Amino acid sequence: MIDFCGIELAHPVINASGCFDVLAARACFGEELIERFPFSAYVSKTVTLAPRAGNPPPRLWESAAGMINSIGLPNPGIEGYLDEHLGEYAKLGVPLITNVMGSTAAEFVALLAALEDRSEVAAIELNVSCPNVATGLDIGADPRGLRLLLEELRPLTQKPLIVKLTPNTADVGACASAAEEGGADAVSLINTLRAMALGYGGKPWLGGGSGGLSGPAIRAVALAQVASVAERVAIPIVGMGGVSSGADAAALLEVGALLVAVGTESFRDPAAGARISAELARLFAENAGS
Ligand SMILES: Cc1cc2nc3c(=O)[nH]c(=O)nc-3n(C[C@H](O)[C@H](O)[C@H](O)COP(=O)(O)O)c2cc1C
Repeated sequence: MIDFCGIELAHPVINASGCFDVLAARACFGEELIERFPFSAYVSKTVTLAPRAGNPPPRLWESAAGMINSIGLPNPGIEGYLDEHLGEYAKLGVPLITNVMGSTAAEFVALLAALEDRSEVAAIELNVSCPNVATGLDIGADPRGLRLLLEELRPLTQKPLIVKLTPNTADVGACASAAEEGGADAVSLINTLRAMALGYGGKPWLGGGSGGLSGPAIRAVALAQVASVAERVAIPIVGMGGVSSGADAAALLEVGALLVAVGTESFRDPAAGARISAELARLFAENAGS
């Protein structure tokens, strides 16, 4: 058992937000998926205060060793999430981490208030990759702003707060440290790296203009960023970015992560979660025996 912010988890592998739609997966794989759920906690896709339709298509570009997505966080809004999704997620038999994003501190406050009395929610992941409407900078890219946000949010909830850091910043260690000073219980990283692709006639391919790069292409960046954050904070780290195998997961644990999240690999191999957990367990067993 792993103690993650007071939550007991059976093993260190969870899903990355937005990368495992459990309702769609159940429709494909049936109830067996629920009976042998591959992740030790389930992380929801980002939920915002108001419903969002997401970006116009095309939304995906396959890059060398990865993909660029410009999905644009479509979601039913917090009310729709509570009415339509929470009940289903609560049946999974693993702790639920709800990922939320606000574009102002007031929006984050309202999102936390809506979740506070919902015992189905074990922890809240704060997606701070959204531009601050006042400064235009990503909220999570500015250490001072991030600390102030956490100082405002921390007293408002009993639930653990995990800050999902953006890699699109000059010094991710400073941002992680600011989140910890503000009262974050854990940090998770990395989110996608800002990227774009050109289509016909030199026009951006993606409907949203630019998007976020993920998959094996970002694995080495994730390893470096998790290692530098581990040197700066004492709170638990959820490492992610290009994890495709047990060995990739082990590398993130080696440099200081407590948990590892599987993202893009689940689109390529829908059974990746179970496979990566089994590979990691085998590596642990081999190391214990050597
Ligand atoms: C299609 C897609 C949708 C995503 N949606 C979200 C999201 O809703 N919220 C979020 O915090 N991160 C989201 N992410 C980022 C992932 O959670 C993860 O941080 C990133 O993809 C790096 O991991 P990976 O290389 O294993 O995919 C998304 C990534 C992809 C590829």
